[in-house]
Amino acid sequence: MAEEGERLQKVLAALGFGSRRACEVLIAEGRVVVNGTVAVLGARVQPETDQVTVDGAPVGVRPGLVHYLVNKPRGVVTTASDPQGRPTVVELVPDEPRVFPVGRLDLDTEGLILLTNDGTLANAIAHPSTGVEKEYLVEVHGGRVSPSGLRHLREGVELEDGRTAPARVTQPSPGVLRITIHEGRNRQVRRMCSAVGHEVRRLVRVRIGPISDRRLAPGDWRELLSDEVIALGQAVAASGYAQPT
Ligand code: URA
Repeated sequence: MAEEGERLQKVLAALGFGSRRACEVLIAEGRVVVNGTVAVLGARVQPETDQVTVDGAPVGVRPGLVHYLVNKPRGVVTTASDPQGRPTVVELVPDEPRVFPVGRLDLDTEGLILLTNDGTLANAIAHPSTGVEKEYLVEVHGGRVSPSGLRHLREGVELEDGRTAPARVTQPSPGVLRITIHEGRNRQVRRMCSAVGHEVRRLVRVRIGPISDRRLAPGDWRELLSDEVIALGQAVAASGYAQPT
């Protein structure tokens, strides 16, 4: 039977506790506790069920680190400050501590974006090699996308910066697509749809890796739960992202 969960040192490394090797040392020194028991090397964790602490502090709620999930409305820019004076996502969350957006959504794109002061996790999620999935609901102009259009989107379309990686694409109703990608190129979903002859009418990001929230209203934010932070670390670790040492 396949072993469940991710290796503890990979998860800790993705959460910024150091390189995998450094995290193995943390474990070997007995400083990591899973569900009340000192962890051994090779232990695996499940974010939904396992409580992990390092030096007694719950992982994911390291002092001073904040992780906000924001539902960005249309017309709000993703940068920290905008020379044109447009509203920014950073203005939607508390001023202190200072946080920055993880990746970006276009001005006209709506939906979920993370803001954090946790540089390690932010780099890992935003890094193109991580493969953390992002799922979008897309309304396109021009009605139903043809089977060959869907096949192209799934298999990869040629864009000026290269062919897109395979994507998961369904059409829950005519002209509405659910697209899951793990690359994060500029205006990628809009350019993919345009490449198969459908301009985007509305684009909403509904999931980032394991994180989704249908009840978060546009313009609202909430802090990630610690098991969501761990799950994000796991998603990064599972995607093969190598933490810089
Ligand atoms: N793809 C886009 O085209 N725009 C976004 O904002 C995000 C993904």
